[in-house]
Amino acid sequence: MLLGRDVDNGGNGMLERIGKPEYASLSEHSAEMILLLEQILQNNGDPQIAEVGVGIGATSVKIAEKLANRGQLYLFDFNHNVAQLGDDLKALGFTNLRLHGSSKHTYDSYTWQLLKLAKFHQRLSPHGFFDLIYLDGAHTFIHDVGSTALCKKLVKPGGYLLMDDYNWTFNTSPTMNPEKMPQVATWYSQEQLETPHIKLVCEALLDGDPEFERDYLDGRVSPRRALYRKRARQQS
Ligand SMILES: C[S@@+](CC[C@H](N)C(=O)[O-])C[C@H]1O[C@@H](n2cnc3c(N)ncnc32)[C@H](O)[C@@H]1O
Repeated sequence: MLLGRDVDNGGNGMLERIGKPEYASLSEHSAEMILLLEQILQNNGDPQIAEVGVGIGATSVKIAEKLANRGQLYLFDFNHNVAQLGDDLKALGFTNLRLHGSSKHTYDSYTWQLLKLAKFHQRLSPHGFFDLIYLDGAHTFIHDVGSTALCKKLVKPGGYLLMDDYNWTFNTSPTMNPEKMPQVATWYSQEQLETPHIKLVCEALLDGDPEFERDYLDGRVSPRRALYRKRARQQS
């Protein structure tokens, strides 16, 4: 049983899938990520960026191009996806990659990888490490409550956390609704099938947190996403 939504990225060459009709829903990169990256690069030549959930690499390759081997790009997904994407990006000359793959065990996911990274940075960078994190994985509370809590810790003061699929639900998903995938009705309650998990996670963990503020980038954040900025620390 797989509680996360795997994208079947199997086969050779992940980036070559971008733009193919069968991968249309994964072919569009996040424009917000590129906008934010351009903004960050104005003051920081070596930013630390994370993309949690890579799909077929549509956003990852744009980030890598913009970074041009400056800073580091952390990529999280299932083992085979990050390995394949890593190979494709390395073949394009990008060497600033940190690959964090997960197994297909039922309860394994990027949450475990983020947990280990948070422990690693606890002492090294106690106030946060990443300039920008894009959380775009399973979109279910099972993985994304823990991941959001960890991303909040891992993002630096002044850094950004972009939450994808703000309004996504199982019931409205073309591929994961209970008719298409009857197992989901045994995993999740009726309420959980009809509720947007990420919106609820944002409302519970981010909206009321004085350390974070919502940012709309002057209206350039898609309604499918929610962007949060960690407030700069007050000098004591
Ligand atoms: C919508 S795609 C990400 C798209 C990508 N961010 C982009 O902008 O092109 C979601 C990704 O999350 C990954 N994912 C879902 N559940 C997961 C889990 N439990 N563990 C690891 N990765 C997972 C899927 O394999 C998929 O590649």
